[in-house]
Amino acid sequence: MPGESMQQCARMPESLETLISQADLQDRIESLAEEIRRDYGDQQMLLVGVLKGSYLFLADLSRRLGGNVAIDFVQTSSYGAEKSSSGVVQIRKDLDINIEGQNVLLVEDIVDTGLTLTHLRELLSVRKPNSLKVVSLLSKPEARVHQTQIEYVGFEIPNAFVVGYGLDYSERYRNLPYIAILRPE
Ligand code: IMP
Repeated sequence: MPGESMQQCARMPESLETLISQADLQDRIESLAEEIRRDYGDQQMLLVGVLKGSYLFLADLSRRLGGNVAIDFVQTSSYGAEKSSSGVVQIRKDLDINIEGQNVLLVEDIVDTGLTLTHLRELLSVRKPNSLKVVSLLSKPEARVHQTQIEYVGFEIPNAFVVGYGLDYSERYRNLPYIAILRPE
């Protein structure tokens, strides 16, 4: 389903099945923020949102973290097996901030195969941050191909294609306030 053209998408009827409600999302983000704030204390942290999928999660998480928080964004583009045998992740938009010596918390929407996160961890760790941790709203453990560390996980979900709360299908559904499984009808 990912990667299909808008034309194909327009022809195919889809249905949405709620997987995580708006209330459950907000409750979990509140508890994640408490856990993160407990771990970091009053140290400054730099939240690095991975565009575009993390934009709503980062907005809600950052408001609940309070305290000493800076924000930057990175955007990647990945070429899956159908386009390239190497599975390379490229940087489409790099950070604006120098992260050397900073406590970086990478904010991901979802970890699927783990390819993107593996590359981002490598890319950021060579820039010598003081610490580098990851928070991902969603994780699909059954889909993992590249094992990678995720310090904070919002929800472990089944291996289904989900949309909403930042996650898209052909750029649609990002603005849903909940997470839904997208199925072709
Ligand atoms: P990974 O590199 O395979 O872990 O994939 C990470 C990226 O794939 C995420 O940041 C999303 O942009 C996209 N992705 C993976 N699974 C889904 C999904 O179920 N819905 C929408 N996007 C997804």
